[in-house]
Amino acid sequence: MPDGNENENGEMVSPKHADDIFEEFKEHSVAEFFTKNKQMLGFSGKLRSLTTVIHEYVTNSLDACEEAGILPDLTVKITELPEEHMLVKVSDNGPGIPKSHIGRALGQMLSGTKFHRYMQQRGQQGIGATGCTMFAQLTSGKPIHVRSSTGNGMIYECNVSVNVKTNAPLISDVTEYEGDFRGLEVTAEFADVKYDRSEYSPLEYLKRTAIANPHAEIYFVDPAGKKVRFPRVSQMLPDRPHEVQPHPLGVEPHVLYEMMRISPARKVGSFLTSELARVTPSKVDELKVVMPDFDFDQPPQNITWNDARRLVNAFKKIKWVAPSADGLRSIGNEQIDVALRSLLKPEYLSVRSRPPKVYSGGVPFIVEAAIAYGGSAGKHTESGISTEIMRFANRSPLLFDAGGCAVAKAVRAVDWKRYEIRDFDNAPITVFVNFVSAFVPYTGAGKQSISSEPEVFDEIKFAVMDVARDVQRYLSGKVREERKEAKRKAIMRYIHQLAVDLPLLANTGTSEELEKKLTAVVFTRFKAEEAEENEEHKTREIMIEESESEAGETAENKIEFDEEDM
Ligand SMILES: Nc1ncnc2c1ncn2[C@@H]1O[C@H](COP(=O)(O)OP(=O)(O)OP(=O)(O)O)[C@@H](O)[C@H]1O
Ligand SMILES: [Mg+2]
Repeated sequence: MPDGNENENGEMVSPKHADDIFEEFKEHSVAEFFTKNKQMLGFSGKLRSLTTVIHEYVTNSLDACEEAGILPDLTVKITELPEEHMLVKVSDNGPGIPKSHIGRALGQMLSGTKFHRYMQQRGQQGIGATGCTMFAQLTSGKPIHVRSSTGNGMIYECNVSVNVKTNAPLISDVTEYEGDFRGLEVTAEFADVKYDRSEYSPLEYLKRTAIANPHAEIYFVDPAGKKVRFPRVSQMLPDRPHEVQPHPLGVEPHVLYEMMRISPARKVGSFLTSELARVTPSKVDELKVVMPDFDFDQPPQNITWNDARRLVNAFKKIKWVAPSADGLRSIGNEQIDVALRSLLKPEYLSVRSRPPKVYSGGVPFIVEAAIAYGGSAGKHTESGISTEIMRFANRSPLLFDAGGCAVAKAVRAVDWKRYEIRDFDNAPITVFVNFVSAFVPYTGAGKQSISSEPEVFDEIKFAVMDVARDVQRYLSGKVREERKEAKRKAIMRYIHQLAVDLPLLANTGTSEELEKKLTAVVFTRFKAEEAEENEEHKTREIMIEESESEAGETAENKIEFDEEDM
């Protein structure tokens, strides 16, 4: 090996030994990673950061209340402090967090009650709340303050922060006392945030949360002291979410590996039949044919990551019954209807919840769509009215990153002119889409946009086309009615005049008699015209429906059903 190499300046540089380079080798904790990449959690830009904080706390409160079977009562208060700091306080009437778990729940990344379960909840990753704790300590230098009670008559208060180096929670200033409270209240101080009332603001976020969660009561106090109440408009608590098993076509190698590592099963074969959906002993036999050299009798805890990857590849080679959508909880037509009517008071509203579909071969999902037309629908600004697209995933509003989101893209891909909406961007309409799944394919940890998996994109587009067709019917009917009414009024004016003038000119008959006869003639003609128009209209609708169902076939056909297994 040469002793050195010449650099750009003609100097000799001796090579560095690997031992010296690797002296610098360090591990960092996941918490440290996110302090350096906080934009990945949604903490970028002052307004977005504040809305992200509200989003994380509110989604946690709603998840907790629903899991505990409690109708949620939420209070969100934002107070302005000196030097552009903001104090955020969010409290709920949920189950609270037992004192033994407060530190880890709110001060340790990747820990929580949700990320290891296949269950439809707003939270998935176990980083949202701790992300807020870290953002508070990074910007204001202060821990968050927590008040929690599980409703046992004792209230527990403490400060929580994160040891970023080790991703371990730090708890201080603990007090415990008797009191009548159940739920969680978090108070956190932030800098590098700002409040306004724009479409990206906490207020808009809460408004949309209220629309998708008509069973929640939300009370908001903004930094100016203005109070806004979003009342509960439905007493119906959503069905409690329950765990679903992952489907062989929807599981990734690292998830399978992790599941096998902690499984109580004795053999890989019995692990597969007991912990994955739709795996029967006969399916294991089929897998044995695809992987003849793999030992299905070995303990699942022994397998390597590479074995997990090989199994996932083998899953793709055989046919499976589509996964069940039992665990999915949509909002439902009635609830969406109540919520949109109470908030937007639209002139016309159409709501549709579609049957479940599957993406990536094994992940079931449901799309719900609605279009509100007129009233307060659409964005109302000083420069006029423009179209509003409201995106939701598992009832959580998605306010940011619309550009890369499958919902926004699919809504824009609809040929709106076909639905009597000539200028889509400036129409008085609100398009509502809720994506429901135990595993939402978010494009990033900030959870603000849904990735455009082909089946997801198609299904959103079809759902929006469904409701757009109703709007088209309404609008064309409205235009036709207005035109007919104007024509009818004009003709009736002439009839009256003619009925007065003709008997005078002809010197015979009475004007009453003539008016009756002329009116009868005109009404018969109107009826015939109406029948003709209806026929024409029906043909047009059938034509639109036909071309839509042709387009729909590709998405539907991607689900493979194995008849024998059904
Ligand atoms: N208001 C609350 N009431 C009861 N438990 C809560 C509340 N907020 C948080 N938790 C608990 O703290 C855990 C961690 O919350 P965190 O927001 O960090 O993660 P997550 O909600 O599980 O997932 P995500 O990172 O996707 O939000 C939750 O899983 C839950 O167990
Ligand atoms: Mg969360």
